[in-house]
Amino acid sequence: MRARVAPSLLSADFAHLARDIKAMEDAGAEILHIDVMDGHFVPNLTIGLPVLEAIRKETRLQLDVHLMISNPDERAFDYACAGADWVTVHIEAVRHLHRVLEEIRKNGARAGVALNPHSPIGLLEEILPCCDLVLIMSVNPGFSGQQLIPTSFAKIRALRKLMEAKSVEATVEIDGGIDLENVADAVRAGAEILVSGSALFGTADPASTYRRMSAAALEGSRQRQDASLKAP
Ligand code: DX5
Ligand code: ZN
Repeated sequence: MRARVAPSLLSADFAHLARDIKAMEDAGAEILHIDVMDGHFVPNLTIGLPVLEAIRKETRLQLDVHLMISNPDERAFDYACAGADWVTVHIEAVRHLHRVLEEIRKNGARAGVALNPHSPIGLLEEILPCCDLVLIMSVNPGFSGQQLIPTSFAKIRALRKLMEAKSVEATVEIDGGIDLENVADAVRAGAEILVSGSALFGTADPASTYRRMSAAALEGSRQRQDASLKAP
């Protein structure tokens, strides 16, 4: 398991996106997290396809698109075509999840399912083999700068158990309230992609914070590996 911090552009400076993306590239980021909000599924409104297309032209980093929109059945496909490497839909918003995941994959992206804090892991029972990624929301979606809900780590552990039981190797992502203090805990719980917005871009030197956060995540994955080697 390789832990990677994915900067969330929601907390970047929208007037200087290219500059902030370049800073994350130089700091060693591999994945950028892009939050699409429609002002309906969540109260906030952010960016959509034209901005994603512009970002695609600007960087070769993997683009991880988190769709917080009411009708992902009709739109997920477009984001895969616009150059997203990962497209994630919310289980609370989608009607025909199996079909949507297939459409995302057919269009060359990896398919993810996001769970809000109130949604139980058990909802994934049938669909897990079709998921390339599961995103555990550790805050209620819509805004950056919220506090992580501590029960999220137990949820990630439960997800790992379910994946093991079903022999599924999806990528596990956590999103919301990740900072320097808790990033290693999230990795020890089993998260591989750690989304972070305000705790990165809200600091004076986001690139140096990125490096410190990545180092903490790496340490967390070493500890997780050691613990699994020691387990009977
Ligand atoms: C919240 C978004 C997050 C957000 C995270 O709904 O999905 O990606 O940018 O921001 P922080 O890290 O500040 O909680
Ligand atoms: Zn997000």
